[in-house]
Amino acid sequence: MDAYVVIGNPIAHSKSPEIHANFARQTAQILTYERLLAPLDGFAATVHNFIAGGGRGANVTLPFKLQAHALADQLSERARLAGAVNTLKFEHGSIFGDNTDGAGLVADIVINAGVALSGKRILLLGAGGAARGALLPLLEQKPALLVLANRTYAKAAELVSQFARYGNLAAVEFADLQGTFDVVINATSASLEAEVPPLPPEVFSATTLAYDMMYGKQSTVFMQFAAQHGAIVRDGLGMLVEQAAEAFLLWRGVRPQTADVFTTLREQLRPATD
Ligand code: ATR
Repeated sequence: MDAYVVIGNPIAHSKSPEIHANFARQTAQILTYERLLAPLDGFAATVHNFIAGGGRGANVTLPFKLQAHALADQLSERARLAGAVNTLKFEHGSIFGDNTDGAGLVADIVINAGVALSGKRILLLGAGGAARGALLPLLEQKPALLVLANRTYAKAAELVSQFARYGNLAAVEFADLQGTFDVVINATSASLEAEVPPLPPEVFSATTLAYDMMYGKQSTVFMQFAAQHGAIVRDGLGMLVEQAAEAFLLWRGVRPQTADVFTTLREQLRPATD
């Protein structure tokens, strides 16, 4: 049977096996998909062992996305520009690396949330791996403007110079942000520390979609802040499911439906009320 894994450290928490099992069932694809814990100093060896055992593909999560990028023999354009790989495909003795995170984000915003990005003003917060991975897919939607704001301004400026040829984008200090935005995306890791990036609340209006790439049982502090200032909020659970669908498409050539598994995962996250 065709074997797939998600590789990370830690990995026990990963929802990917459940998501891919759902995709395989509904598309009648015969495959296995399991969690694979790699030692922190043993990512490449873990991948090579899995390939030697007949493995066909892998998702890659923290902290190995940069190592997966380095390990790939060939890269998609979006993975090359992201500088990180979350999906590996093993074929003809070669390792192909892709990055489906940004496409997952865009699909969740445009299709699931029903918010078109073309011609819009987008504010992207952060300049780490998560922001970098989102830039090309976001710019491909042809927003009127994409503003990148980061605590360390120099990192945002560096990303802007690297992606300038793909669209209209600018780096701005948090304190200098002006005007409202149609979509504000939190790609910082601030939510992990229960912090909100230092945003002027004027970036939000009643029609702004405030999107946090993180998700959990509760709204993140960024979502709470945005909601207090009138924005429509959404967490990153849909992005998780959509990046998986994009990986499944790369591996199997069919695009699964995402709504059912999204609903199931949301239900599991709902805090117990009794
Ligand atoms: P990831 O791969 O998740 O993007 P990362 O590469 O470590 O992780 O990047 C974390 C991002 O979150 C950075 O943009 C970081 O800002 P700096 O470049 O200034 O470090 C941002 N970040 C982390 N904690 C933050 C906080 N409390 N407030 C604002 N930004 C924060």
